[in-house]
Amino acid sequence: MKKPSLQTILTPAIIDLYDLENTIVVVIDIFRATTTIVYALYNGCKKVIPVNDIEKCKQLGHDLQALTAGERNGAVIPGLQYGNSPLQYTKELVEGRTLVITTTNGTKLIELAENKNAHQIVIGSFLNFTVTCDYLIKQNKNVLLACAGWKGLINIEDSSFAGAVYEKVQDYFDCTCDATFMAHQTYLSYQTKLLELFKKANHWNRLISEDIKSEKDMIFATTIDVAPILSLYDQNTESIISS
Ligand code: MLT
Repeated sequence: MKKPSLQTILTPAIIDLYDLENTIVVVIDIFRATTTIVYALYNGCKKVIPVNDIEKCKQLGHDLQALTAGERNGAVIPGLQYGNSPLQYTKELVEGRTLVITTTNGTKLIELAENKNAHQIVIGSFLNFTVTCDYLIKQNKNVLLACAGWKGLINIEDSSFAGAVYEKVQDYFDCTCDATFMAHQTYLSYQTKLLELFKKANHWNRLISEDIKSEKDMIFATTIDVAPILSLYDQNTESIISS
């Protein structure tokens, strides 16, 4: 039987080259948007509404009486209630609440995938790694692992996650995609010392700066399966829910 295909984009800048209508897109922004979204949902957040625009985030937050959150260049946006630190999104804060969030790269990529009519959008992180991989295997559909990167550039943490997913699901997909093989090789070389690799990352160094001080977030973002819930974008409500 023909297996579905698996491909990877290491940057959203080339998403237009892909036909997504019959494809499940896994959005990957390890530091930190997809980690934050998954952790908030795990802690009982009712839904997460990703938006691209700061004013829209404020307006929706007001209209829906929702929590508002976001960052630009890693730093909290003035006028929003919270930033993009996953550890902030405790049960006490989010249980039963709606969260509206805007981030530099992650929420932008969700919107790009939605505008290209992706068959489905799945939110991927190390926190929900196994449940996400198992879901992809069960669907028997083409998959695009979509790395958010940084403002159009490739980053090592999202690429490594794509490689980790491929390592786990490779028997169930046909893959002729060099980007996937590159991501896989990177992951295999560092799988037992991912933190060592990630400390070289551009965004790691941005996030440990004096103003942001988010090293704890990034260490947390590399912990596997601590929030084992599937996170799916629901096109009808334009929000991410756990299932
Ligand atoms: C993003 O979406 O660009 C990121 O999650 C940035 C961050 O908060 O570290």
